[in-house]
Amino acid sequence: MPYEKGPVITPVSGFFGAYLSAVSLKTPLTQSEFTVLRQALVRYRVLFFRGQFLGHDEQTALARRFGPLAPAHPWQVTTPGQPFVHTLVTGGDRPMTPEQQHRTRWRSPDYLSGWHADVTAAVDPPSLSVLRAASVTSRGGDTTWADLVTAYEQLSEPLRRFLDGLTAEHRYLVGYVPYGVTDNALRTAMSAGFVAHHPVVRVLPENGVRALFVNPAFTSHIIELSPPESRRILDLVYTHMTQPAFCVRHQWQRGDVVIWDNRATAHIAPEDHEHLGEERRMHRVFVAGSPAIGPTGRISSAVSGVPYQVPAHGTE
Ligand SMILES: [Fe+2]
Repeated sequence: MPYEKGPVITPVSGFFGAYLSAVSLKTPLTQSEFTVLRQALVRYRVLFFRGQFLGHDEQTALARRFGPLAPAHPWQVTTPGQPFVHTLVTGGDRPMTPEQQHRTRWRSPDYLSGWHADVTAAVDPPSLSVLRAASVTSRGGDTTWADLVTAYEQLSEPLRRFLDGLTAEHRYLVGYVPYGVTDNALRTAMSAGFVAHHPVVRVLPENGVRALFVNPAFTSHIIELSPPESRRILDLVYTHMTQPAFCVRHQWQRGDVVIWDNRATAHIAPEDHEHLGEERRMHRVFVAGSPAIGPTGRISSAVSGVPYQVPAHGTE
């Protein structure tokens, strides 16, 4: 039963993020509902929906409305029979392997290390991510997003101009300390072979808005700078872009759906729930993206690896 008045938009912070209510994602969106969602995504970049309780097929159909889909994950199959659904399970009472314990410990000391946009090691990272909560923990487990448009706009003009002309390399497991020589995470990530060069600032083609396009999980270095220069400039950018003023944090409830613009935001997974012994089960679907275009016209290029998915007709 469609809602008569259409989606209601309630912004959640001073800069970005909005709750959308009075809309059901379970059935196909009407054209006017889709238009509202599309415009809200451009304006707010992260959209939160409560109480949707979607299944895999409904989530896939919703994402497909926004454009062709990208594979669920570069190398993992986590949801049998669902090539576009990636399932992320954390917590619960399953014993962790020593390698998983190592990865959990490795993540924890550096708050910045977990910030990322999805699959930016590919030349054409997903444009949108659609994530739903199938089960949540009784506390903890929040996801946080950073607004990379506002973060860019609030840098000083000389620094913006400097970053506008730069290019960065993105690869998997930047800064990761391997678990011995048999580390499975490292081996599978390396064999997938995704390495890309992206402009440090990307221009969103739909409105010409600029966004920072680096993140600590994937960006290894800025190509035009010396290694110590690159390290310090990236640290400056990361500290700037993850400050609380540019972040929104979502306390998940079962049945929630969040859609975010993966070209204009970064996010960080929670690290405060795995000790609770409760399972957190999330399902994610990607809308395919395109290579990024920088302010100087520089376009992303693949250093190695095939395109993740080049859409037949652009979604950007
Ligand atoms: Fe992610």
